[in-house]
Amino acid sequence: MCGIVGYIGERQAVDVLVNGLKRLEYRGYDSAGLSIISDSNLITYKKQGKVADLETIIEGKNHRSNIGIAHTRWATHGAPSDVNAHPHRDNSGRISIVHNGIIENYGLLKKALIKRGYSFHTETDTEVLAVLIGAFYEQTKNLELSVRKALSEVVGTFGLLVLSLDEPDRIIAARRGSPMVLGIGDGEYIIASDATAIIQYTKQVIYLSDNEMAIVSKDNFATKTIDNIETNNQIHQIEFDLEELEKGGFEHFMLKEIHEQPYTIQNAYKGRLIADKGNVKLGGLRNVADKLRNAKRIIFTACGTSWHSALVGEYMLEQLAGVPVEVEYASEFRYRNPVLYPDDIVFAISQSGETADTLAAVYEAKQKGCTVLGIVNVVGSSIARETEAGIYIHAGPEIGVASTKAFTSQVMVLALVALYLGRMKNLSQLDGKRIASEIIQLPDKINQILARCEDIKQIAKKYIYAKNILYLGRGYNFPVALEGALKLKEISYIHAEGYPAAEMKHGPIALIDENMPVVFIATKDEIYHKIISNIEEVRARGGKVIAIATEGDTQIKQFANDVFYIPETLPMLTPILSVVPLQLLAYFFAKELGRPIDQPRNLAKSVTVE
Ligand code: F6R
Repeated sequence: MCGIVGYIGERQAVDVLVNGLKRLEYRGYDSAGLSIISDSNLITYKKQGKVADLETIIEGKNHRSNIGIAHTRWATHGAPSDVNAHPHRDNSGRISIVHNGIIENYGLLKKALIKRGYSFHTETDTEVLAVLIGAFYEQTKNLELSVRKALSEVVGTFGLLVLSLDEPDRIIAARRGSPMVLGIGDGEYIIASDATAIIQYTKQVIYLSDNEMAIVSKDNFATKTIDNIETNNQIHQIEFDLEELEKGGFEHFMLKEIHEQPYTIQNAYKGRLIADKGNVKLGGLRNVADKLRNAKRIIFTACGTSWHSALVGEYMLEQLAGVPVEVEYASEFRYRNPVLYPDDIVFAISQSGETADTLAAVYEAKQKGCTVLGIVNVVGSSIARETEAGIYIHAGPEIGVASTKAFTSQVMVLALVALYLGRMKNLSQLDGKRIASEIIQLPDKINQILARCEDIKQIAKKYIYAKNILYLGRGYNFPVALEGALKLKEISYIHAEGYPAAEMKHGPIALIDENMPVVFIATKDEIYHKIISNIEEVRARGGKVIAIATEGDTQIKQFANDVFYIPETLPMLTPILSVVPLQLLAYFFAKELGRPIDQPRNLAKSVTVE
């Protein structure tokens, strides 16, 4: 949420900053802006709207500058507008900052500063921080010290970059609760909210920790805690390539990411699944294997799509490992004094590894003495670093705001965890081998679904009139119903709800009429005949039925208006297949309606605010 980038080196800063903003735009697109120092002037451009709108106002200006900071905004305090766009300045006009996060006590700080004669021109919490830094600078004449003093008064979260005309050869970066990565180039540095803005220039990075600062000049950098204790950071290598950040011929990132799934789920099990032994090797869990084996209970905590994959994980772990599992919304978990025991294992699941609620749940569970593990996509992210151990899903950068490939890769990794734990307990080798052999067929089966994506497009066209759509599934397909509905809501703005199919008769059935299409995920399993009864209940009330069914199921054609077939697999692995047509359905609905698919309104990737 909000993307920030800073540059210092030999290149034209404006070019690097604008490139960086384009890479980070998926984190927020309410406004964009940048500040540079050029010929001893601090120059700022900012504009409501997208980075492309910012480009129109800087076009042809040709400022020469080798240092600057920039921001793309997802509005929290203050409506999206030119004036509320970052960067923000202090009262002297000589200090400029960009900020990702929320200053919770900005109201109090603002009042105190106004009393001291300072003035404000925006509604943002960030301007308060800029003015506060400026106020300290008047006393200290030392930028680093002023930033440190200001941050010690701040309650809340920040990823912060500070630029000053009085110290024009450095950028000061700081973080608490919002990510910050320092890219180390050859005589240049790029500092950004995530590595996507950096990789074009260097693959060498440092991930700043919470309460850490970096003081970066052209030739060197120093890191220290906000209370001035020097820190030593390991240099990491970015694992993905620049091409992974391009659309690769697809019209949208979301469509590209849907099509990447045969490959990304393979990446999730490659080197981990020992198919001929029906076993799994999870290096990341090696040191906690005994704790896992002895856990009385496993708790998954996550938000949104990741919460849906946690639900699938719950069913898998209970089925294969016979261990009680609970699934918690991270946003609720921390605020309700959850009853946790030291022998509970808590898994935090997150694509970005930066979701504020999930991170807070990690801290809460750690505080209560639990073993906290991560299932994360973004390498080096906060959740990856704050958890004791974990498993990367290796899905590569997910740019489309609506999560797709991360879901299937999370479910894949959860299947591996279930198999791993199951085999430590009572699951037979024969069963393990059967599951493994089904897993390795999944990429090919997803390809078979993708090859028929035109059929889904036709279904979307047929039901484009719908204002509401219900998604129903049972067992392993219940979380898929939730996920299908979420995808549709997010990118098409059509209202959709997911329900366990049998719950329909307890209320939602009142909504059914000829204008209310119902998507049933009705694949063959032991409760198939029950879902057929639910379909009949909908048809009896004039509802239109779109069924996702198992290949070879001819019976379902009598009950459904439209059927999309997916290849057969084990029920526990079905979500990895059944979600794909639903991702495509949401995509084609949104496309038909002309929605901005990769950047849906009001949303942003990586929700780093509570
Ligand atoms: C939905 C979506 C969100 C995220 C949620 C958690 O398409 O992207 O619901 O799943 O914000 O994000 P992560 O997984 O990054 O913690």
